[in-house]
Amino acid sequence: MASIFDETTINGMTLKNRMVRSATWEGMCEPNGKPTQKLIEHYRNLAKGNIGLIISGYTYVSPEGAQAPGMMGLYNDDFATEMEALVRAVHDEGGKIAIQLVHIGGQSPPSDNGPIAPSAIEAPIYKAIPKEMTLADIATVAQAFADAARRAKSYGFDGVQLHGAHGFLINQFLSPLTNKRTDDYGGTVEDRCTFLMDVYKKVREAVGDDYPVMIKLGVKDFLDGGLEVGDAVYAARKLSMHDIDVIEVSAGTGASGDKSAARTKINEPKDEAYNLDLARKLEEAISCPLMVVGGFRSYEVVEKAIDRRGMDYIAMSRPFIREPGLVRRWEEGDKSKAKCISCNGCFKPGMQEGGIYCVVEAKFREKDS
Ligand SMILES: Cc1cc2nc3c(=O)[nH]c(=O)nc-3n(C[C@H](O)[C@H](O)[C@H](O)COP(=O)(O)O)c2cc1C
Repeated sequence: MASIFDETTINGMTLKNRMVRSATWEGMCEPNGKPTQKLIEHYRNLAKGNIGLIISGYTYVSPEGAQAPGMMGLYNDDFATEMEALVRAVHDEGGKIAIQLVHIGGQSPPSDNGPIAPSAIEAPIYKAIPKEMTLADIATVAQAFADAARRAKSYGFDGVQLHGAHGFLINQFLSPLTNKRTDDYGGTVEDRCTFLMDVYKKVREAVGDDYPVMIKLGVKDFLDGGLEVGDAVYAARKLSMHDIDVIEVSAGTGASGDKSAARTKINEPKDEAYNLDLARKLEEAISCPLMVVGGFRSYEVVEKAIDRRGMDYIAMSRPFIREPGLVRRWEEGDKSKAKCISCNGCFKPGMQEGGIYCVVEAKFREKDS
């Protein structure tokens, strides 16, 4: 019987359980992307909670690929000391940490060199019309992913995860809604996968075969004319054939309304695990481990997804904002469901107060004091 607390190994990285902190932007970096002590302590606290693998917040690989305030940046070697301290904080508590690498593409705010995107059409709900990427831009961005991955490995991160979901650049290339190119990078599903495979192969080359390279793959946009799961299965098969180490399944973009990546109204077990059926569509196509994120809240739902529905890893984001110690709590015998009410109130303090936190928990604390 496969269980939450099995020890597993991903390309040399041994994890003490199958629970993963899915990438979560914290908004705690300096404006140039440099990690702060507050962020480092945030990671130390997560690691104390006994989470098998922590995936960092999305981290931009080149300056024009940034988005939210306080995002982490890895576009040069200037933050080596802080990045190493962050990794050390996790390792000191017995945890493992991978860094999530992203380029936002057409959703970036306007800048000297951006936004850039596969095609000069606005990403849904983002009003700036991006510049269509030239072949030189494509090569530069793919190289930026590889350079960032090489840096991450040298700072001690246990692995990297490519952000291929939520309507960002890799997803923009995969999606027929945002990719109208007629060259080798657009058109058929094979051509829409070219950028993803360029990035993956360059990253793999930069870090070597014996280092975990994972992807968070958006498998459906939930937008008219957008990415559908059949095309995502094609992409997943291709990545698996080229030895990607883990595929984490997510879905939805910022424009997908009630089907966005971080859905609200998760009240009962039947509302949970909302990407599980999509994830199962990838099972047959791939030979690497499968991870799924989206709405997991109950111990029983997590355990069943692992033992009976074929998932290797379960990732969660919002529950760990409210309860960084959730996995440890479950392990110690209190298996009641996560306290997170999926209200998405955690985004606002990240935008306005220099860092995310659970606003519901904060209200309770205020009342108690
Ligand atoms: C505050 C916040 C920040 C997020 N930041 C990221 C991110 O940096 N990268 C990413 O892939 N997903 C990000 N997400 C999405 C989550 O990783 C996850 O896919 C989504 O919230 C669904 O999982 P959950 O129900 O366990 O929260 C974020 C979500 C929240 C609430």
